[in-house]
Amino acid sequence: MIKNIKDQPYLFLLYGATGDLTARKIIPALYNLFLDNWLPDEFIIIGCSYSKIENEEFRKNVLEGVNKNSRKGKAEAKQWKEFSARIFYQHVDFNTISSFKPLKIIVDKYQEDWKKEAQIIHYLAVAPKFFGIIAYNISKNNLTGNCENTRIVVEKPFGHDLESAKELNKKLCSIFDEKQIYRIDHYLGKETVQNIMAFRFANSILEPIWSRNYIDHVQISVLEQLGVEKRGGYYEGAGAMRDMIQNHLLQLLCLTAMETPINFNADEVRNRKVDVLRAMRRFSSESIRTHSVRGQYGSGWMEGTEVSGYRQEPEVNADSNTETFAAIKFFVDNWRWEGVPFYMRTGKRMHEASSTISIQFRDVPHYVFPSEATNNWQQNRLIISIQPEMSITLQLQTKRPGLDMVLNTVDMVFNYKDPTVTETPEAYETLLLDIMQSDQTLFMRADQVEEAWELLMPILDSWQTKESVNFPNYAAGSNGPETAEALIARDGFHWFSLPLKQ
Ligand code: BG6
Repeated sequence: MIKNIKDQPYLFLLYGATGDLTARKIIPALYNLFLDNWLPDEFIIIGCSYSKIENEEFRKNVLEGVNKNSRKGKAEAKQWKEFSARIFYQHVDFNTISSFKPLKIIVDKYQEDWKKEAQIIHYLAVAPKFFGIIAYNISKNNLTGNCENTRIVVEKPFGHDLESAKELNKKLCSIFDEKQIYRIDHYLGKETVQNIMAFRFANSILEPIWSRNYIDHVQISVLEQLGVEKRGGYYEGAGAMRDMIQNHLLQLLCLTAMETPINFNADEVRNRKVDVLRAMRRFSSESIRTHSVRGQYGSGWMEGTEVSGYRQEPEVNADSNTETFAAIKFFVDNWRWEGVPFYMRTGKRMHEASSTISIQFRDVPHYVFPSEATNNWQQNRLIISIQPEMSITLQLQTKRPGLDMVLNTVDMVFNYKDPTVTETPEAYETLLLDIMQSDQTLFMRADQVEEAWELLMPILDSWQTKESVNFPNYAAGSNGPETAEALIARDGFHWFSLPLKQ
């Protein structure tokens, strides 16, 4: 790990430089790192893409991206001038080996000027079909370097299924060492997600109760109000399982269920997360039927505006079988979690936008209060709210002040909005800094990705073979399909929703 990146020169080669991710996330994050004085003086960004544009046009495009998307608002002229002087553009045809030649010349030239070996980052913000060929062409142009000075960053989706993920891992690992490969899952860079480990492993009071002995069930919900927007073409081949559950939601589950790592080393933390995936109960055709639900949104109303159904979105098939909602009941078959259900759901065009992990504790073993006192009774619950609200809430029963003995649920809250909490960085800022520092803790290792695919393949295969006959089965702006309510209701529970209620 590089402790002081300011002492090192960096060359950041950004493939897919004219794409949406570059403008929306990557350049704004790099700019904010620059504003916060994280970047070294010798830091050069080379945007690479098919378009034949000049440096100035590229700079203008990314400035628009910053002005629209940066958490710090519009760029100030003086600061932007200083930052953008480090941004250049190079036309590259990803499929052609010789097209990468100028990159090698640029890299050599900078290293010569700096009289120092540079840290080289190849960032692949491109469609997955280009991952393999770009990596190959990088290697054929002697740009792969070694573990100490070169890394490759790959955006999701990492593969389409277990086979393609294995294939891609094989390809990348034949060119780069695993220590050079950074597979992004941007959820891991979120402040609130990183805090899960801090919260669990820095507070001794939690460990004794963090198991089947005290926990009744866990719910992980990532609900979005947005539809597929302009990404219909991509989403048709993905669906909620590949887009969200295979990566973001399973990572949240791993962080919730993992054993305490011995230390904070990247491989130690990732080993403990892989242990969880390995312990997860595999699906049979019977449990696919009883433990999984899929949905697709039809037209509906979102905050007073009528919106179209998924099948009417651009680039979506009129009879699409792609799920925009998925709910699954998982089990982690190990000593700590045996018998505790982990319910997971995610959906687009839901009535609320919220990402939460709710841990419901077991009920008290015996009620000592008269029934009139317990009308508002609720089992203790811990809610880790990831976004948009960023908080941790512990719900407890207390006596309502007054002459009667009446119990009420009260919240003990840690809220990131608290004025004593400093501004929280964007996930991409954290992840980009980690890449520069060569810290792989928050990135997916090859075996993690494959384990997650392996777990989900039976459901994915089954959903592909048996087309859904009742799509669309939930209206935009609703709470998802009724079958998702039934999935959890069968066990005597219900999905918790915001505002937090019983
Ligand atoms: C992306 C998915 O990985 O995550 C999108 O491809 C989804 O479909 C997005 O909307 C959600 O991310 P966030 O950070 O907005 O919760």
